[in-house]
Amino acid sequence: MHKSAPIGVFDSGVGGLSVLREIQALLPDETLLYVADSGHVPYGEKTAEFICQRSTVITDFLLEQGAKALVVACNTATAAAITQLRAQYPELPIIGMEPAVKPAAAATRSGVVGVLATTGTLQSAKFAALLDRFASDVRVITRPCPGLVELIESGELHSDVTRQLLRSYVDPLLAEGCDTLILGCTHYPFIKPLLTELVPSSVTLIDTGMAVAKQLQRLLAERNLLAQGPAKGTQLWSSGNSSNLFLVLPLLLGREARVNPLLR
Ligand code: DGL
Repeated sequence: MHKSAPIGVFDSGVGGLSVLREIQALLPDETLLYVADSGHVPYGEKTAEFICQRSTVITDFLLEQGAKALVVACNTATAAAITQLRAQYPELPIIGMEPAVKPAAAATRSGVVGVLATTGTLQSAKFAALLDRFASDVRVITRPCPGLVELIESGELHSDVTRQLLRSYVDPLLAEGCDTLILGCTHYPFIKPLLTELVPSSVTLIDTGMAVAKQLQRLLAERNLLAQGPAKGTQLWSSGNSSNLFLVLPLLLGREARVNPLLR
């Protein structure tokens, strides 16, 4: 595999773009390919089998486009499919996402941490193992957030509906004394400005986009696969209605970009 080959990134929809922008900021010489599986969003309420199957279809597609590494920019898909993907593609460097339990346990002063994530992530064996490993000294309160991903997909980052739904998820966590909130879904960084309005400034919000970009950098460096530039830009595909993604891109990334249909 050549250094100048692209990096494949995917998510159920637009959420992984919050990771993509961190990768772009840290590794501007890298060419990126992004697949939004918008035809099947949300993953949060789907079975692990279905998510594994979609993850394989998308990984095959990204490999056909010449990807040298894969970022599963989705907590739900990581929990459901990363073990299988690593077994299926042993040569491919694969980076996944998981809720930032370890940094949150280190950051909390009240000893109470809240986790906002999808049902799939919170019910996974991977998440249970993460809690066993890093959260023995703190109280962790989990909160699945159905409906939130769909609102973010439609670009409702600041609407009254989104505000009300988010408040209904966050207020009970604050009432329990949470001073640290983990954004355990890659869609949620896009509503961080709204969340900041809803929680006291003493509450720490933790997401993992930058940590994943750094992990990707380490892995590529280890394998001597870091690109030396210039990057050939970012290509985007959507398995759903590509014009929807095109319309919300300026809100999410601050710029327009062409979106290709993914017919799989
Ligand atoms: N963005 C995804 C995550 O990080 C999944 C959201 C969904 O499709 O439910 O979990």
